[in-house]
Amino acid sequence: MNNMNKLPENIKKYIEQKEFEKDNVGLSNSTIYIYNNMVLKIEDDISQTVETVNVIKWLKGKLPVPNIIYHEIFENKSYLLMSKINGKMSCDDYYLDNSELLLKLLGEAFNLLWNINIKDCPRIKDINSKLKEARIRVENHLIDLKEFNDNVGNTFKNPEELLLWLEENKPEDNELVFSHGDFCLPNIFLKDDKITGFVDLGDSGICDKWYDIALCYKSLKNNFNGTFGGKIYPDFNPNKLFDVLNIQPDYKRINYYLLLEELF
Ligand SMILES: Nc1ncnc2c1ncn2[C@@H]1O[C@H](COP(=O)(O)OP(=O)(O)OP(=O)(O)O)[C@@H](O)[C@H]1O
Ligand SMILES: [Mg+2]
Repeated sequence: MNNMNKLPENIKKYIEQKEFEKDNVGLSNSTIYIYNNMVLKIEDDISQTVETVNVIKWLKGKLPVPNIIYHEIFENKSYLLMSKINGKMSCDDYYLDNSELLLKLLGEAFNLLWNINIKDCPRIKDINSKLKEARIRVENHLIDLKEFNDNVGNTFKNPEELLLWLEENKPEDNELVFSHGDFCLPNIFLKDDKITGFVDLGDSGICDKWYDIALCYKSLKNNFNGTFGGKIYPDFNPNKLFDVLNIQPDYKRINYYLLLEELF
């Protein structure tokens, strides 16, 4: 690492002299260094990182998640050193080529989340809290306009208009569960026919179960249709997700959550 000197001393202690790879999958403002058995995530947006670490600690024994080795906010950045999850990301070619197995494992991943007792969950990330965060982002012009309006049937002129629509059309009868919050294929790790872990838990907390379903549905679509530049699988049908979950698709709700996600 170039800027070893700028790291908190307690992080240096663990990683000095060790070899690493830099991850290029993440799209957000974070930097990920992958070591042999540890991962260091450095984030500029520190606002929710302490909360996230608390949720990850709460999840221990309830869900396979990384162990927190050390966390510190240092000079306005968050440094999270955690254990490395084994296996491959579920968007790995192996799983895209074996979509039946992938879908089965994703179904299991949902069930692991939904079986968590949320009674004393330390964080709520439901529609109201997401809309509040979205309003702050819109009012502070933090929405990337280059990415606005380009998919999921977003016909709104600007983020303000979309936000007003979302605020006025909130889905009712939410089914509250423990939600991963960014349920996309790169955040779920698999090995052979087992789930090895969930990463990227910065938006996890109590939410309507359809939020994760919507994100997973979109991620499946985009990973199989070549959006990320990979192989195209014309025969793959993302609606098979509903078969493994054994539920009827609620496209209205899915569409609402994908539109909400446009504001993040
Ligand atoms: N504990 C871990 N064990 C193994 N791999 C990890 C771990 N944490 C992160 N990674 C790898 O780094 C990638 C990016 O990490 P993460 O998803 O936390 O970052 P991000 O920048 O928030 O990404 P996103 O674009 O999803 O917002 C993951 O998809 C995964 O491949
Ligand atoms: Mg991620």
